[in-house]
Amino acid sequence: MLSNRLIHSAVAFFVVGVALGTAMGATQDFRFTHVHAHINLLGWVALGLIGLIYRVHPHLQQHWLAHAHYWLHTAGLVIFMGAFAWGVATDAKPVPFIATGATMVSLAVLLFAVNVFTRLSRSTAADYR
Ligand code: HEM
Ligand code: HEM
Repeated sequence: MLSNRLIHSAVAFFVVGVALGTAMGATQDFRFTHVHAHINLLGWVALGLIGLIYRVHPHLQQHWLAHAHYWLHTAGLVIFMGAFAWGVATDAKPVPFIATGATMVSLAVLLFAVNVFTRLSRSTAADYR
């Protein structure tokens, strides 16, 4: 079920985000704050919330838009955060990678929004049993 996959992915981002926050606090090195904030918010919070929304409205996840959203969001976030962290840790300026990852996430959010706005009210009674 896609909702389970979203929740699994959210928890994986949570573990990484919290570990990074703990390491930042322990070393007093805050260069990775943006990475930490967005792994937690776009990973743990957004994916977890969407997973729960799919549990409440199961028909939303039975559509290609939901699957396309999932892959674009998770792959985009890994590229976005990986490139951002790489740029912070080295002198590299991987702006094209950061932009690609961020655009993938934004596109994913758009697909999720289209799914919700066009299909949410088409719920059937079976959704709420
Ligand atoms: C054990 C868990 C966590 C630890 C140890 C931790 C640690 C930190 C640290 C050290 C900073 C940098 C603060 C600074 O720059 O002065 C920070 C910033 C931030 N954290 Fe966490 N964090 C944790 C969990 C979370 C979670 C779960 C979220 C979101 C759901 C989150 C969201 C943020 C945000 C948005 C910022 C940036 C705040 C700003 O720019 O003012 N953190 N965190
Ligand atoms: C594709 C999606 C997103 C992109 C490209 C993005 C980009 C950015 C940028 C450029 C900044 C400013 C960094 C700076 O001041 O140097 C920022 C800060 C911030 N964003 Fe996002 N953001 C995205 C999604 C989100 C979402 C969904 C949330 C919350 C649920 C969020 C929460 C924050 C917070 C709390 C800050 C301030 C903390 C920080 O500086 O790291 N962002 N974001």
